[in-house]
Amino acid sequence: MIGSKIHLFEDVESTNDIAKRFALEGREEGTVIISDSQSRGKGRDGHSWLSPKGMGIYLSVILKPNISPTDVSQLTIVAGVATAQAIQDVSHISISIKLPNDLMIRGKKLGGILLETSSTGNTLNYVIIGIGINVNTDVSSFPQEVRSIATSIKEEKGVSLKRIRLIQRLLERLDEWYKIYISGGMEDIMRVWSEFVNREF
Ligand code: BTN
Repeated sequence: MIGSKIHLFEDVESTNDIAKRFALEGREEGTVIISDSQSRGKGRDGHSWLSPKGMGIYLSVILKPNISPTDVSQLTIVAGVATAQAIQDVSHISISIKLPNDLMIRGKKLGGILLETSSTGNTLNYVIIGIGINVNTDVSSFPQEVRSIATSIKEEKGVSLKRIRLIQRLLERLDEWYKIYISGGMEDIMRVWSEFVNREF
Protein backbone atom coordinates (compact mmCIF):
# COMPACT_ATOMS: atom_id res chain seq x y z
CA MET A 1 0.00 0.00 0.00
CA ILE A 2 1.31 3.43 -0.92
CA GLY A 3 2.19 5.33 2.24
CA SER A 4 2.37 2.38 4.62
CA LYS A 5 5.95 3.54 5.34
CA ILE A 6 6.69 7.26 5.28
CA HIS A 7 10.15 8.76 5.80
CA LEU A 8 10.20 12.46 6.63
CA PHE A 9 13.27 14.61 6.14
CA GLU A 10 13.99 18.24 6.90
CA ASP A 11 16.32 18.88 3.98
CA VAL A 12 17.68 16.58 1.29
CA GLU A 13 19.28 17.13 -2.10
CA SER A 14 16.44 15.30 -3.85
CA THR A 15 13.74 12.97 -2.50
CA ASN A 16 14.04 10.97 -5.75
CA ASP A 17 17.69 10.23 -4.94
CA ILE A 18 16.81 9.07 -1.41
CA ALA A 19 14.04 6.90 -2.87
CA LYS A 20 16.50 5.36 -5.34
CA ARG A 21 18.93 4.55 -2.54
CA PHE A 22 16.12 3.02 -0.48
CA ALA A 23 14.92 0.98 -3.47
CA LEU A 24 18.44 -0.38 -3.97
CA GLU A 25 18.52 -1.31 -0.28
CA GLY A 26 15.39 -3.39 -0.95
CA ARG A 27 12.80 -1.23 0.83
CA GLU A 28 9.25 -2.22 0.10
CA GLU A 29 6.91 -1.00 -2.59
CA GLY A 30 4.82 1.95 -1.48
CA THR A 31 7.55 3.49 0.66
CA VAL A 32 7.24 7.29 0.60
CA ILE A 33 9.96 9.90 1.11
CA ILE A 34 8.95 13.47 1.93
CA SER A 35 11.21 16.44 2.59
CA ASP A 36 10.48 19.93 3.87
CA SER A 37 13.02 21.32 1.38
CA GLN A 38 15.37 20.14 -1.36
CA SER A 39 18.71 21.70 -2.15
CA ARG A 40 18.98 20.05 -5.58
CA GLY A 41 15.40 19.24 -6.54
CA LYS A 42 15.28 17.73 -10.01
CA GLY A 43 12.81 18.58 -12.75
CA ARG A 44 12.38 16.95 -16.14
CA ASP A 45 14.94 17.35 -18.92
CA GLY A 46 17.77 18.21 -16.53
CA HIS A 47 16.01 21.27 -15.11
CA SER A 48 16.07 22.01 -11.42
CA TRP A 49 12.94 22.10 -9.24
CA LEU A 50 12.91 25.02 -6.82
CA SER A 51 12.02 23.57 -3.43
CA PRO A 52 11.98 26.27 -0.74
CA LYS A 53 11.60 25.18 2.87
CA GLY A 54 8.17 24.77 4.34
CA MET A 55 6.35 25.91 1.22
CA GLY A 56 5.73 23.04 -1.14
CA ILE A 57 5.31 19.29 -1.24
CA TYR A 58 8.39 17.35 -2.33
CA LEU A 59 7.61 13.68 -2.30
CA SER A 60 8.79 10.43 -3.90
CA VAL A 61 7.24 6.98 -3.95
CA ILE A 62 8.96 3.64 -4.60
CA LEU A 63 6.96 1.29 -6.82
CA LYS A 64 7.81 -2.20 -8.05
CA PRO A 65 5.05 -3.11 -10.49
CA ASN A 66 5.23 -6.35 -12.40
CA ILE A 67 5.20 -4.67 -15.82
CA SER A 68 7.54 -4.38 -18.78
CA PRO A 69 9.97 -1.44 -18.78
CA THR A 70 8.31 -0.35 -22.03
CA ASP A 71 5.03 0.32 -20.17
CA VAL A 72 6.52 2.54 -17.50
CA SER A 73 5.28 5.78 -19.07
CA GLN A 74 1.73 4.66 -18.14
CA LEU A 75 2.66 5.35 -14.53
CA THR A 76 3.20 9.02 -15.38
CA ILE A 77 -0.44 9.11 -16.36
CA VAL A 78 -1.51 7.28 -13.19
CA ALA A 79 0.44 9.78 -11.08
CA GLY A 80 -0.91 12.74 -13.08
CA VAL A 81 -4.53 11.76 -12.51
CA ALA A 82 -3.97 11.06 -8.80
CA THR A 83 -2.14 14.35 -8.23
CA ALA A 84 -4.58 16.49 -10.20
CA GLN A 85 -7.54 14.97 -8.35
CA ALA A 86 -5.88 15.32 -4.94
CA ILE A 87 -5.17 19.02 -5.53
CA GLN A 88 -8.75 19.58 -6.65
CA ASP A 89 -10.15 17.63 -3.68
CA VAL A 90 -8.48 19.83 -1.10
CA SER A 91 -8.19 23.20 -2.85
CA HIS A 92 -11.34 23.17 -5.00
CA ILE A 93 -9.34 24.70 -7.84
CA SER A 94 -9.78 23.24 -11.32
CA ILE A 95 -6.57 21.67 -12.54
CA SER A 96 -5.53 20.86 -16.08
CA ILE A 97 -2.70 18.65 -17.26
CA LYS A 98 -0.31 19.93 -19.90
CA LEU A 99 1.53 17.20 -21.80
CA PRO A 100 3.39 15.22 -20.75
CA ASN A 101 2.53 15.83 -17.14
CA ASP A 102 2.58 19.41 -15.94
CA LEU A 103 -0.11 20.33 -13.43
CA MET A 104 -1.54 23.66 -14.47
CA ILE A 105 -3.91 26.31 -13.17
CA ARG A 106 -5.06 28.95 -15.64
CA GLY A 107 -2.05 28.38 -17.88
CA LYS A 108 0.56 28.46 -15.12
CA LYS A 109 2.41 25.49 -13.70
CA LEU A 110 1.98 24.57 -10.06
CA GLY A 111 3.32 21.04 -10.02
CA GLY A 112 5.25 18.42 -11.92
CA ILE A 113 6.08 14.73 -11.93
CA LEU A 114 9.46 13.11 -12.51
CA LEU A 115 9.64 9.36 -13.06
CA GLU A 116 12.96 7.57 -12.72
CA THR A 117 13.32 3.86 -13.37
CA SER A 118 15.80 1.05 -13.17
CA SER A 119 15.59 -2.08 -15.27
CA THR A 120 17.78 -5.04 -16.17
CA GLY A 121 16.98 -6.30 -19.64
CA ASN A 122 13.23 -6.84 -19.72
CA THR A 123 12.89 -6.76 -15.96
CA LEU A 124 11.82 -3.60 -14.22
CA ASN A 125 13.62 -3.30 -10.90
CA TYR A 126 11.85 -0.25 -9.53
CA VAL A 127 10.14 3.01 -10.46
CA ILE A 128 10.46 6.23 -8.50
CA ILE A 129 7.59 8.66 -8.87
CA GLY A 130 8.67 12.13 -7.76
CA ILE A 131 5.98 14.73 -7.27
CA GLY A 132 6.53 18.42 -6.61
CA ILE A 133 3.66 20.81 -5.83
CA ASN A 134 3.87 24.54 -5.11
CA VAL A 135 1.46 24.80 -2.21
CA ASN A 136 2.14 27.92 -0.13
CA THR A 137 5.04 28.96 -2.31
CA ASP A 138 5.62 32.66 -2.74
CA VAL A 139 6.34 32.61 -6.45
CA SER A 140 7.63 36.19 -6.36
CA SER A 141 10.75 34.79 -4.67
CA PHE A 142 11.50 32.75 -7.81
CA PRO A 143 13.77 34.04 -10.61
CA GLN A 144 11.97 36.19 -13.17
CA GLU A 145 11.95 33.54 -15.92
CA VAL A 146 10.22 31.06 -13.59
CA ARG A 147 7.89 33.63 -12.01
CA SER A 148 6.11 34.31 -15.27
CA ILE A 149 5.19 30.65 -15.83
CA ALA A 150 4.76 29.30 -12.29
CA THR A 151 2.09 29.59 -9.64
CA SER A 152 1.10 27.99 -6.34
CA ILE A 153 -2.14 27.03 -4.64
CA LYS A 154 -1.73 29.99 -2.28
CA GLU A 155 -1.17 32.41 -5.16
CA GLU A 156 -4.37 31.21 -6.77
CA LYS A 157 -6.56 31.03 -3.67
CA GLY A 158 -5.10 33.88 -1.68
CA VAL A 159 -4.95 31.71 1.45
CA SER A 160 -2.53 29.04 2.61
CA LEU A 161 -3.36 25.39 2.74
CA LYS A 162 -2.11 22.89 5.31
CA ARG A 163 0.35 20.75 3.38
CA ILE A 164 -0.43 17.70 5.51
CA ARG A 165 -4.00 17.67 4.20
CA LEU A 166 -2.82 17.57 0.62
CA ILE A 167 -0.13 14.97 1.35
CA GLN A 168 -2.72 12.70 2.95
CA ARG A 169 -5.14 13.07 0.05
CA LEU A 170 -2.36 12.62 -2.50
CA LEU A 171 -1.27 9.32 -0.96
CA GLU A 172 -4.88 8.11 -0.86
CA ARG A 173 -5.42 9.04 -4.50
CA LEU A 174 -2.11 7.47 -5.59
CA ASP A 175 -2.96 4.25 -3.80
CA GLU A 176 -6.45 4.19 -5.29
CA TRP A 177 -5.31 4.74 -8.91
CA TYR A 178 -2.27 2.49 -8.62
CA LYS A 179 -4.54 -0.35 -7.52
CA ILE A 180 -6.81 0.32 -10.51
CA TYR A 181 -3.72 0.29 -12.74
CA ILE A 182 -2.31 -3.01 -11.52
CA SER A 183 -5.69 -4.66 -11.86
CA GLY A 184 -5.81 -3.73 -15.57
CA GLY A 185 -7.72 -0.44 -15.46
CA MET A 186 -5.52 1.62 -17.80
CA GLU A 187 -8.45 2.42 -20.09
CA ASP A 188 -10.42 4.01 -17.25
CA ILE A 189 -7.34 5.94 -16.18
CA MET A 190 -6.80 7.25 -19.72
CA ARG A 191 -10.40 8.43 -19.85
CA VAL A 192 -10.05 10.50 -16.68
CA TRP A 193 -6.60 11.73 -17.74
CA SER A 194 -7.82 12.95 -21.13
CA GLU A 195 -10.50 15.03 -19.39
CA PHE A 196 -7.75 16.84 -17.48
CA VAL A 197 -5.67 17.23 -20.63
CA ASN A 198 -8.47 18.63 -22.75
CA ARG A 199 -9.62 21.13 -20.19
CA GLU A 200 -9.44 24.74 -21.21
CA PHE A 201 -9.67 27.85 -19.10
C1 BTN B 1 8.94 18.65 -13.68
O1 BTN B 1 9.96 19.12 -14.20
O2 BTN B 1 7.82 19.03 -14.02
C2 BTN B 1 9.04 17.56 -12.64
C3 BTN B 1 9.28 18.11 -11.27
C4 BTN B 1 9.39 17.05 -10.20
C5 BTN B 1 9.81 17.60 -8.86
C6 BTN B 1 9.76 16.57 -7.77
S1 BTN B 1 9.94 17.27 -6.15
C7 BTN B 1 10.07 15.68 -5.46
C8 BTN B 1 10.91 14.85 -6.41
N1 BTN B 1 12.33 15.01 -6.10
C9 BTN B 1 12.97 15.64 -7.10
O3 BTN B 1 14.19 15.93 -7.08
N2 BTN B 1 12.13 15.94 -8.10
C10 BTN B 1 10.79 15.46 -7.82
